[in-house]
Amino acid sequence: MTGDNVERIKYVMEYLNKHLTMLNDMGFVFDDGSFDEMIHSYGVAYFCASAAYSKGLDPELGYIIGLLHDVGRIINDDYTKAHGPSGAILVEGFLEDTGLFDSEEIEIVCRSISKHSKKGKNHGPYDEILKDADLIERLFFMGDIKAPGTAKRKRIDQQLERYGLEVIEKNNEFKV
Ligand SMILES: [Fe+2]
Repeated sequence: MTGDNVERIKYVMEYLNKHLTMLNDMGFVFDDGSFDEMIHSYGVAYFCASAAYSKGLDPELGYIIGLLHDVGRIINDDYTKAHGPSGAILVEGFLEDTGLFDSEEIEIVCRSISKHSKKGKNHGPYDEILKDADLIERLFFMGDIKAPGTAKRKRIDQQLERYGLEVIEKNNEFKV
């Protein structure tokens, strides 16, 4: 990673942190404090970077996608499945204003963010890693294993296999 990459990531972090700070002034997103947008955004970013690296994609771009993927919820207070598309509109404006990203990169980042909250086909490679990372972060931090046999659980199982892990369920409990 070059100094330019680090500068871009830090720029994105500043943008995200500014909005997270405003959010945290109001407390956790879930009333019981079981979910925190900062932990989730940064966790997804690391999982995205790791998946990008292992698939021969750009880890920096993956990291940035992860950081920004839920700004539709964080900034717009949008808790519906539309938080992907609404976040992508904000992110597009932000990335263009920075002058640090070319149009192809902006397209990749915004497309992934737009698609991550909705079902659908024709996913590009970065769209896939974001969907995977979003699920795997929730597994490790919230214990959200999803129901066996579902598409989301299959994604989780495939990701765990990469790490040499698996979900073992017993007596309504599970461990990885
Ligand atoms: Fe997310």
